[in-house]
Amino acid sequence: MTPKTPSPASKPALKFELLAKCSTTRARASNLTLPHGPVPLPIFMPVATQASLKGLTPAQLEATTCRLCLNNTYHLGLRPGQPVLDAVGGAHAFQGWNHNLLTDSGGFQMVSLLKLANITEEGVRFLSPHDGSPMLLTPEHSINLQNSIGSDIIMQLDDVLVTTSPDKERMREAMLRSVRWLDRCMAAHARPHDQNLFCIIQGGLDLDMRRECTVAMLERDTPGIAIGGLSGGEAKADYCAVVKAVTELLPEGKPRYVMGIGYPEDLVVSVALGADMFDCVWPTRTARFGNAVTRRGVLNLKQARYADDFGPIEDGCGCVCCRPAGEEGALGVTRALVHHNSAKETAAAHLLTMHNVWYQLNLMREAREAIVGDRYPAFLRRFFRDLHGDKE
Ligand code: GUN
Ligand code: ZN
Repeated sequence: MTPKTPSPASKPALKFELLAKCSTTRARASNLTLPHGPVPLPIFMPVATQASLKGLTPAQLEATTCRLCLNNTYHLGLRPGQPVLDAVGGAHAFQGWNHNLLTDSGGFQMVSLLKLANITEEGVRFLSPHDGSPMLLTPEHSINLQNSIGSDIIMQLDDVLVTTSPDKERMREAMLRSVRWLDRCMAAHARPHDQNLFCIIQGGLDLDMRRECTVAMLERDTPGIAIGGLSGGEAKADYCAVVKAVTELLPEGKPRYVMGIGYPEDLVVSVALGADMFDCVWPTRTARFGNAVTRRGVLNLKQARYADDFGPIEDGCGCVCCRPAGEEGALGVTRALVHHNSAKETAAAHLLTMHNVWYQLNLMREAREAIVGDRYPAFLRRFFRDLHGDKE
């Protein structure tokens, strides 16, 4: 007899336990347990677009303490393609990653990468980047691909507009369409027992539209909730107003993911506003330009002054690159080596990628400890003091 597939509302494929709440901000610390293991929240998730974090082996990614990273449905659907993913048994096996994966639905990448994407009620129409042939990504197709990928968290297809778009009517259409597309995604989802489908709240910078979308999405009772349509160059105050307006309406017992956010200062502020999960290509992309993310800000190690700097990338950092050679698994990398290598070799980019991902994960670990100890405001003050270099 075939077992009956449970509906997503009755049995989510995740467990969410709230550990602590800050008494003065909206920051929370919690434990999220996904099909491929536990994830402490708040968390930063690095982006492994093409089934690998550029330059790193799965073991190196694991050494950064990452246990949840992103893949892209759009990229994996084009290459290696669904037949290969089905044959190997999904993206975990394909990339040798036994920890958690989250996939974005693909529409956002098409709209942001291919300026030629055209959205209709049916789905996102675009021209194949390979041969220029017309293609259509529907909510059903996106979910079907994500079911083949087998990621632990899958995202609904949504109609994304840049937040700064002035067209209120078009924004409202996109928001309502995203709700309708969630219904189609839920109906198409074949693996709710081991893959968690998250909704994505849209509505631009209009707080009433955001609230209306939040209410409609919450009625669908998905295992987790994302806030989309941000990270598009909006003013910080507008960004904060949207995250605050939405988190105020969200239930306590579900994870909250703000999509596309990754500057350290945005992470710590978003945590104060009640968000739990974040992703961004910035820390890994900037590593490939020779940039180290540190608590004192971003250092460009290509600059001449680092040529004879024999200190670690960041003093006191616990990543495998920065810890002194001789310690278990540590490399004792110096700024001088990264500087030297960054001229021609790719090794510097790999080392900085490991350091930057570790930095982001460690920042969220420290935030979590501060929330548990109910000293998040002091943590925030210290973070901004270190970043801006005020002497006190
Ligand atoms: N990544 C960053 N923002 C978004 C968004 O609004 N929707 C989706 N699907 N992905 C995103
Ligand atoms: Zn380091």
